Amino acid sequence: MEKMVSLVFQEFGEGIPVVFLHGFALNHTIWNPVVPLLRSEARLILPDLRGHGRSESSDGPYSMDLMAKDVKCMLEKLEIEKAVLVGHSMGGYIAQAFARYYPERLAGLGFVATRFTPDTSEKIQARFKTIRSVEKHGAEVIAEDMADKLTTRLDLVPSLYNMIKKTPQAGLIGGLKGMAQRIDSTDLVRGLRIPWVFVAGVKDAFVPVEEARAMTAGLASDRYFEAAEAGHMPMLESPEVVADALKLLLRLVENRD
Ligand code: MLT
Repeated sequence: MEKMVSLVFQEFGEGIPVVFLHGFALNHTIWNPVVPLLRSEARLILPDLRGHGRSESSDGPYSMDLMAKDVKCMLEKLEIEKAVLVGHSMGGYIAQAFARYYPERLAGLGFVATRFTPDTSEKIQARFKTIRSVEKHGAEVIAEDMADKLTTRLDLVPSLYNMIKKTPQAGLIGGLKGMAQRIDSTDLVRGLRIPWVFVAGVKDAFVPVEEARAMTAGLASDRYFEAAEAGHMPMLESPEVVADALKLLLRLVENRD
């Protein structure tokens, strides 16, 4: 039986609940630049995921299903029946697991710099190599490896480095193991009957823009957004593009009800 963890979150505004799921080794503060752009449009809920930020850790693996369950439990506690989920990278994998298990609770999906496919065998091997180094040397290994690849904006690198370095070791290892186990969600996303939008960073070193274009080929072109100057962190690098995508998503969700 998995240990359940209560997620620590911040909340702003009122209206349709929109839950923002940050990526691996990060925390809810990455969404801060989009909050002022959206807080008059919806109820924004920004949790720290299990083992990240100020939320509790547990022993891993943190499967994407388990982290989706954490989000479902948070919504139950808040007495929210249905929400829009916005997922960045690993947060996008969690949003996909949520769509698989709790479709009745989902009003719409925003994907930011993420993918629908599982890890390749090379990627799984690389994740386990990273786990061994984190076990030996701590979070700094990931901060060193990731911080400057996340963004093209040099001024953002120090705060991303610190955010990663402060992430609990159990959270990093749990997340890496969980991501390595995830299954393919391509058909699930293609079959979605709720509105969804996708934001890609043209300079993303983790999800190349060509891959984002191919993944979203069947999506109406006005629901696919590219941030020309962004890397893997469009919410920090081009918050207005992310906000525009989410405003469209909110309109689509409102028109369905
Ligand atoms: C993330 O930003 O969440 C990770 O880079 C995703 C991954 O490693 O697949």
